[in-house]
Amino acid sequence: MRAQRICILGGTGFVGRHLIYRLAEHGYQMRVPTRRYERHRDLLVLPTLDLVQADIHDPKALIQLFAGCEAVVNLAGILNEKGHNGRGFYHAHVELAHKIAAACHKQNIKRLLHMSALNADARNGPSFYLRSKGQAEDFLHNTRDLHVTSFRPSVIFGPEDSFFNRFAKLLKIAPRLFPLACPRVRFAPVYVDDVARAFVHALQDRHSFGQHYDLCGPHVYTLKQLVEYTASVIGVRRRVIGLSDFLSRWQAHIFEYLPGKPFSWDNYQSLRVDSVCRGSFPFGLQPTALEAIVPGYLTHRTAHSRYPAYRSHA
Ligand SMILES: NC(=O)c1ccc[n+]([C@@H]2O[C@H](COP(=O)([O-])OP(=O)(O)OC[C@H]3O[C@@H](n4cnc5c(N)ncnc54)[C@H](OP(=O)(O)O)[C@@H]3O)[C@@H](O)[C@H]2O)c1
Repeated sequence: MRAQRICILGGTGFVGRHLIYRLAEHGYQMRVPTRRYERHRDLLVLPTLDLVQADIHDPKALIQLFAGCEAVVNLAGILNEKGHNGRGFYHAHVELAHKIAAACHKQNIKRLLHMSALNADARNGPSFYLRSKGQAEDFLHNTRDLHVTSFRPSVIFGPEDSFFNRFAKLLKIAPRLFPLACPRVRFAPVYVDDVARAFVHALQDRHSFGQHYDLCGPHVYTLKQLVEYTASVIGVRRRVIGLSDFLSRWQAHIFEYLPGKPFSWDNYQSLRVDSVCRGSFPFGLQPTALEAIVPGYLTHRTAHSRYPAYRSHA
């Protein structure tokens, strides 16, 4: 089975941009809504992509967006909410899932690929983020007449990621010592293009209906190892000091109220569980090691690699 026209919610984001280039290669027609059309005009070079200014939280707009589509991909999500009580996560993940299901029903769309997160769990997730991701996933998989495939990645890396790039930036401005919360939590970072390839395979494979795929890279690292690795790649000498659990909590409480929430109480709660997979990567794909990719974008500061920073400053 092959869907021809796909609506991609969150298609302008970090993962979305990699996915749309993969889908374009496979000849799919794409409709990509955005709140900030001007900011994403560069995507207009893709002849099979229709960029649309729209509010995906408006149920009527969603129905219009899905008109004529055979499948929907939902990548929209947040890692931090504006408030502090979980309402923002519930709105961004659970309420949106309800609106997507209703709009799919209205437009007779039967196929949905949904981005969740590793450790998402409606009942036992330790954070608002992970519980709301779990609730959205459960709801969608229990929606009648909708063939849903969910993806549950560990942290995702690639050019413009907000993990290695953020640590690289912080390491550069830090004094000799770099205090790090939750240093022992483990991750299996997965390459963004491997994530995109998994989505494309799922679109073409009926066996993926109803499946929940955990997505991890080939190796497991502690957070401290990843930060030390980042420092070595960008060539700065910093001593990474792992904070105790008490100090990690303290840092989360303080940073929660700094502009931009560099680290939040909810992030701290999410980091109470390791973000690692049990099984292998789906569709027989071999996941890419981060050592093969990360130095390429952390060290090559070309004019093009600075565009995202210029855009966010604009
Ligand atoms: N990055 C990771 O390491 C990681 C790990 C696990 C799971 N995930 C999940 O993967 C998905 C994609 O992540 P990403 O890193 O690509 O995210 P991202 O770069 O922040 O992109 C999010 C996209 O969602 C769209 N969006 C629409 N309405 C939004 C709203 N009300 N609030 C925020 N965004 C809205 C944004 O589009 P406009 O701004 O153009 O409107 C943006 O393109 C998310 O669901 C995330 O939870 C990511």
